[in-house]
Formats: sequence, C-alpha cells, structure tokens
Amino acid sequence: MTDQTTPRPVIEARDLKTHFQGRTGIFNALAGAKPAVARAVDGVSLSINAREIVGLVGESGCGKSTLGMSLVRMYQPTSGQISFDGDDITHVEGRRLKAYRRQAQIIFQDPYSSLNPRLTIGQIIEEPLIIHGIGNAAERRAKVIRAMDIVRIPASENIDRFPSDLSGGQRQRIAIARTLVLEPRFIVADEPVSMLDVSIQASVLELLEELSRELGLAVLYISHDIATVGYICKHVAVMYLGRIVEEGRAEDILAEPLHPYTQRLMASIPRMDPGEIPERTELRGDVPSPMNVPPGCRFSTRCPCATDLCREIEPELCEQPGGQRVRCHIHDDRGARQRPDLERPEAGRITEIADAGLLAEATE
Ligand SMILES: Nc1ncnc2c1ncn2[C@@H]1O[C@H](COP(=O)(O)OP(=O)(O)OP(=O)(O)O)[C@@H](O)[C@H]1O
Ligand code: SF4
Ligand SMILES: [Mg+2]
Repeated sequence: MTDQTTPRPVIEARDLKTHFQGRTGIFNALAGAKPAVARAVDGVSLSINAREIVGLVGESGCGKSTLGMSLVRMYQPTSGQISFDGDDITHVEGRRLKAYRRQAQIIFQDPYSSLNPRLTIGQIIEEPLIIHGIGNAAERRAKVIRAMDIVRIPASENIDRFPSDLSGGQRQRIAIARTLVLEPRFIVADEPVSMLDVSIQASVLELLEELSRELGLAVLYISHDIATVGYICKHVAVMYLGRIVEEGRAEDILAEPLHPYTQRLMASIPRMDPGEIPERTELRGDVPSPMNVPPGCRFSTRCPCATDLCREIEPELCEQPGGQRVRCHIHDDRGARQRPDLERPEAGRITEIADAGLLAEATE
C-alpha cells in the first residue's frame, strides 16, 4: 500500500512471464508433439521509483533484454502484470499503448546500428516526435535542440551532421537524446555502454545517473557486467534463467553476495592478475536453455553446493536479516522442512568457496 512516506513506483512488474513458442519440426508435429516453449522471463517481480536506477545483471541468455522489452511493451507478456503509475498497462492496445510507449523508452546497446545512417542527427531525434504527432516544425526543432543540450552534444555544430561523423560515445548520447525528446518517465538502458570504449563508458553512465536524478526518470539499467552496476545503481537484481535469484541494495550485494550464482559472477570479474582467481570460483558452463529448465533450483546444474533437495524443490525468494532477498535453500529452510529426508546445502561450503575468491581479497 502506498502512503505519503512510500513513493508509488513509476513501473512495477508482478509475476511477469514472457514465453516464446518454439517451432515443431514437421515429423514431430505429425507425431502430435507440442512446440517447445522458451521461458525467457518466468515470474519476475520488481518495481522502480522516480529518480531510481535499478541494475539488472546476469549472463547472456538469462532473459534481461526480454524483461526490458516486456516492460516497455515491445513484447506482449504471457502472464503477470505491469503497472505504470499505478495503472495496469499489461494488455493496453491502440492509443493507450502508443501513449504508454511515449512514456517508456528503451536505449539499445549498439549506437552504430540503432541510428539511421541516412538521416541527420536533427532528423533522428525529431523522428519520434513526428511518429507521436507532437508539435509543429518549429516546436519540434526547439525540442530537438533542448534534447541535444541535455546530452551535451551542441546542436549548433552537430544538428546537420550524420551519425558517421560522430564517435561511439557521441552516438550513444544521440540515442539517449532520441529517447529523452519524448519526455519519458521510464527508460530501459539495455547494455548502453558495453560497445563503447572503456574510456568513455563512465561519462555515458554519469549522464544516465544525472538524467535520472534531474528529470526524475525511473531507469532499468541492464548489464551482464556486475562490476559496472555499482557505479550508478542503488538497487541491484541478479537474474538467472528467467528469474530473479538475488536482489537488494547494490552496496550489500557487491560487498557480500549471498547467492552462489552472484558469488560466482563477482568472482568472474576480470582482475589485474588473472592468476589471482582460483579456478574453482569461476563460473563454468552455459546457462541452460530456457526451453529445458532444470527441475528444482535452476542453478543446481552449475552450483557446487547443490544437493538432492536443490534438484527437487525450487527455492523461493526469501528476505534476509540485512534486507537482501535470496532464492537459495542455504538461506531459507522452507524447502528443507518440506523434504526433511533430503540433505540441505550447507552455508559452510559457500563461505569456503566465496572466501577463496574476491570476497577474501576484500577483507584482507
Ligand atoms: N523472440 C524470441 N523467440 C524465441 N526465443 C527468444 C526470443 N528472444 C529471446 N529468446 C530466448 O530467450 C532467452 C533470453 O534471451 P534474452 O535476449 O532476453 O537474454 P539476455 O539476458 O538479454 O542475453 P544477452 O546478455 O546476450 O543480451 C534466450 O535463450 C533467447 O534465445
Ligand atoms: S538452492 Fe542449492 S543449487 Fe540452488 S543456489 Fe542454493 S545451494 Fe545452489
Ligand atoms: Mg540482452
């Protein structure tokens, strides 16, 4: 319930699922087989307030972009609910969907292919205003100049240039200006700096942080790199195979990750001397296919602490004394109470593995 002390989230997802229907080969279809289903997003709940940047991290293929695209309604969720400013927009269509899309924008990873090379910078930023039927030519021009001003690409020198005249960092700023020109309240930034040179990544992240603060934007910042989320996010959610497995304050999660998957992501951060990471702390293997989700805990096929309990019962997200929420039987005894005959994974083994990696170095 929202009261005066609890701000109402700009965007809120409840038990959101986005599944994709796979194709069935002709022989399987004749044999009556149902097409496989990819459970890309499989029961995610999260909320983001104005002026808040929530980081969403996880390996390739764990469902981050599908969640982002579902939240801005580029994908139609299979079930669950999305609320924007308290209004249920999960199934809106037509004019209401167009109005929502004006408020909820997405910035993509690739600043090279996301801008039409045949249009000038001014035309690129103006395009969404034309699509949404906003203003006359002079009003649109004023909005374009203001958006360029906000991202600090001076219009006087750049408005008639082409994307090929700009650097990667400048192009990503133009992509941000293109989303800002519609004055959105919610932005999904899907790996916005991963294709940029390391030297300019920080400036683009700082710009996002500043925009969120000054324009009151709610931002979902997607990254496969848990190291970068600490720069700009106060809250972090870690995703694995379609589900959130750990979430909480960024400082807590980065300092003391509780879920074995998050611990492994932290231990995989490249170090100055790669020899410092003991081999056993590295994240091995790939995320299983969302068409073939393992029973029980989804991480059990890669978790060194997995027991039969993990392979039987999927843990729930459970709040910890420090406020972090974790989906793991080590941190929640509900699964063990359900199946007392099965061995519960031990916290001691996790500590031992974590101690061998980055966490031990942090405390040295
Ligand atoms: N349109 C689609 N149809 C079928 N499957 C899809 C579709 N889009 C994504 N998937 C599958 O859903 C899963 C999640 O994909 P998604 O792109 O959301 O992952 P991601 O976390 O963003 O990965 P990355 O870090 O590589 O961008 C993948 O297994 C992917 O193959
Ligand atoms: S529930 Fe078991 S398999 Fe899953 S993360 Fe925890 S210890 Fe590992
Ligand atoms: Mg992605």
